[in-house]
Amino acid sequence: RLPIILDTDPGIDDAAAIAAALFAPELDLKLMTTVAGNVSLEKTTRNALQLLHFWNASIPVAQGAATPLLRPLRDAASVHGESGMEGYNFVEHQRQPLAKPAFQAIRDVLMASPEPITLVAIGPLTNIALLLSHYPECQFNIRRLVMMGGSAGRGNFTPNAEFNIAIDPEAAARVFESGLEIVMCGLDVTNSATLTPDYLATLPAGNQTGKMLHALFSHYRSGSMVTGLRMHDLCAIAWLVRPEIFTLKSCFVAVETQGMYTAGTTVVDIENRLGKPANAQVALDIDIDAFRAWVAEVLSKAP
Ligand code: BDR
Ligand code: CA
Repeated sequence: RLPIILDTDPGIDDAAAIAAALFAPELDLKLMTTVAGNVSLEKTTRNALQLLHFWNASIPVAQGAATPLLRPLRDAASVHGESGMEGYNFVEHQRQPLAKPAFQAIRDVLMASPEPITLVAIGPLTNIALLLSHYPECQFNIRRLVMMGGSAGRGNFTPNAEFNIAIDPEAAARVFESGLEIVMCGLDVTNSATLTPDYLATLPAGNQTGKMLHALFSHYRSGSMVTGLRMHDLCAIAWLVRPEIFTLKSCFVAVETQGMYTAGTTVVDIENRLGKPANAQVALDIDIDAFRAWVAEVLSKAP
């Protein structure tokens, strides 16, 4: 099984991605870390712990950055609800995050691992940037970073910037400049990775996971219940186990940090106009039918 560490800001599409990370038989989830993004750090951590309790999963959770590196947090409560996972009443529990911050917990798992680990980031890249700045020596044991974020075209938070990158452009710039092998699943694929109402009706709604996700989805405001809900973060997990359903292109990607109107834009040099070496593999197309078939398959394994 592929060992992974998942950095997340749950978040309704994050919740679906966490389900897939837990129940895809190909994956071995070693650690979950939380970051401020869709809602505050306190809420994303509470949501992560609630989900793991819901599935009775004993994956450790470490709490990460409460704010972007240099900017104040702007959240996405308008998309995910005030709690970040509006729509389902989770039971109370006593779970707590680890006593160390996310970047340190990631470092400890990387350094103790006999084999390289894949980092998966589905929120702002603050924790990953902190890891690379504090512990550059652990980079050798990162197999690659697979991320949901960015866009080669339009944005979804500002005209050109996608939310995860727009929230912490300085962190994203640090990560793209790091030399890590990066797979970028941005809006170019995730905007079309929708689950439509017809399709949702075919998913197992009789089990606890189905009921919970259906309840969250009915409060989710990325896409719509008419045209389909956008499962941005699920794409990063899908790439790990079904890479053949994506079309990737190796490109140079820069993150704009200065622009008055464009901060957080990923400048994806598809035609190599800048003549710089590629630093990311950018997902530009996805086989939607195959994606939906995989989602059904993996969710059928959840309780
Ligand atoms: C990204 O922003 C968040 O709201 C989602 O969880 C996803 O990670 C999509 O732009
Ligand atoms: Ca997310």
